[in-house]
Amino acid sequence: MTNSETILVFDSGLGGLTVLREVVAARPGAHYVYVADDAFFPYGHHDEAEIIARVVPLMGELIGTHDPDLVVIACNTASTLVLSHLRAAYSVPFVGTVPAIKPACAQSKTRRVSVLGTKGTVKREYTKALIRDFAQGCEVTLVGSPELASLAEAALGGSPISDEAILAEFAPCFVGDAADASARTDTVVLACTHYPLLLDRLKRLAPWPVAWIDPAPAIARRVSDLLGARTSGVAESGAEMIFTSNRAHGLSAMLTPFFGGRALA
Ligand code: DGL
Repeated sequence: MTNSETILVFDSGLGGLTVLREVVAARPGAHYVYVADDAFFPYGHHDEAEIIARVVPLMGELIGTHDPDLVVIACNTASTLVLSHLRAAYSVPFVGTVPAIKPACAQSKTRRVSVLGTKGTVKREYTKALIRDFAQGCEVTLVGSPELASLAEAALGGSPISDEAILAEFAPCFVGDAADASARTDTVVLACTHYPLLLDRLKRLAPWPVAWIDPAPAIARRVSDLLGARTSGVAESGAEMIFTSNRAHGLSAMLTPFFGGRALA
């Protein structure tokens, strides 16, 4: 497909697929390159300098190879740190994924919101600035999960993951009086793109019902706005999946739904 646009979606692993599926739905005619930097996964375990030193040159190589029209950094742990560096270094448009604190606080009725992210994301200055600017009087609880991204990857790969292991990672999001629906957390921001992979289990295991905020549809709208009107009549284009570890594509069949059913190259 010569005149289709190329969108590169980047994450540390498979979490960015939850963003990819929304972008694919919004831009079905595009060609997709999904890059999982699994050789460096999980980003949440690396310090800030290491992530900048890893992602900025790697993105330069990926841009050189794939010549994308737009890059989605489908990773909060990276976006909250490297977006400004990437925009300074490369002219391609970047769309990031950052904690959806503003819409969460705007919709919370109990004024208690929790942000569930990697340990890296919740300690970022970027995240603290979002709270300062957009908490709108809400009490915001930051919950840094050490292992939930890895558990989500393992579950997607078919490994049995216990309810207890998952609950231990996100239980601190639930703050306040469990018996009083007006005085407890009512909104949880999914501030890591891996977590929507576990959404059914998060809902089932939650001590009480909350609204789970996944920014992926908003990111897809932003991508579409930046790329402008779609080329009419362009059929579905292709998709490539790249693992920086060069591991075999054993998961391909399971991953095709995230690519809108495209066969993966
Ligand atoms: N998917 C990444 C995010 O959105 C995090 C996973 C990791 O720690 O590498 O933050």
